Amino acid sequence: MTTVDWPTVSKQFSQVAGELEQETVSSVESLEQFRIKYLGTKSIFKDLSAYLKELPAENRKEAGMMLNRLKVQAETLFQNFQQQFEVVSTTKKNEIDLTAPGYPFELGSRHPISIVMNQIIDIFKRIGFTIAEDREIEDDWHNFTALNTPDDHPARDMQDTFYIKNSIQYLLRTHTSPVQARVMTRDKPPIRIIAPGRVYRNETVSARSHCQFHQVEGLYIDEGVSFADMKQTLLYYAREQYGPNVKIRLRPSFFPFTEPSAEMDVYYGLADETAHRITKGTGWLEILGCGMVDPAVLINCGIDPEKYSGFAFGMGIERQVLLKYNVPDIRMLFENDVRFLRQFRSI
Ligand code: DAH
Repeated sequence: MTTVDWPTVSKQFSQVAGELEQETVSSVESLEQFRIKYLGTKSIFKDLSAYLKELPAENRKEAGMMLNRLKVQAETLFQNFQQQFEVVSTTKKNEIDLTAPGYPFELGSRHPISIVMNQIIDIFKRIGFTIAEDREIEDDWHNFTALNTPDDHPARDMQDTFYIKNSIQYLLRTHTSPVQARVMTRDKPPIRIIAPGRVYRNETVSARSHCQFHQVEGLYIDEGVSFADMKQTLLYYAREQYGPNVKIRLRPSFFPFTEPSAEMDVYYGLADETAHRITKGTGWLEILGCGMVDPAVLINCGIDPEKYSGFAFGMGIERQVLLKYNVPDIRMLFENDVRFLRQFRSI
């Protein structure tokens, strides 16, 4: 058994202590090298503790204490270096805690305009109408000319049009009626469609009207279609939408694309101040325009008026939302206030 003398061992200890003092760590890799050198299973201290056993008994205690001091020093240094590179915390940050409870998210609600629009679609689908949707940026021909409203026609003043900048050709559609022209120039009768969508008019915003709103257009073209068919269809609609006891009335009116033309009102009542305001004191609320499609419109769209006839209607959605859900002001439908919208959650 070889004995090791104390001066040799203590020299080695001071060498290691000196090395420790010089240590710096500049990367995750060098941190690992540090760990292997001082804290790993084959660390520098392993050799030193092997020497300890060979030391004369009187030196062993002191040597053991020196060795422990060095170990603690290396350990502390390692922890400092580790913090510097945030090795521990970054790995923790990236870990996904699969046991954490999920975030609950609130169920949204449909907008009342969509609710009523879908109800209208359902009602007309049941009697064989299909859906025709089309563009919101229309050309002048489909929005006006095809619908018997030439350039100089005074009826153009009825609808204050938003034109696309620097264009007299393109505009935001003022009604869903151009979809009639689109369908009639494309398809052959019999035609039975409804066209829901958004429309725009340069109107002053008030409790009753807005510059953007929604309509559903209806068009039925076939052989022998009469005004009585139209009346019955609209009565069916009103009963489905407002109940079997609903009161409606048809008033003579004028639209360039229908002859004869009418407007249909639904009875709203005069129960309170809101009812007075939105019905202008009459108790009746106008919900749609309608009429027999003017033969000139059929000709414009390539349909023979000698063979075919038909009716059309265009209804406003917003007014009906006010009517059905007792909403006092049309502007509430466009403000997107969740306290208002939430109330339609259960419908
Ligand atoms: N387009 C008309 C408007 O926006 C409503 C209308 C009236 C549509 C009569 C029709 C109709 O299809 O036949 O005021």
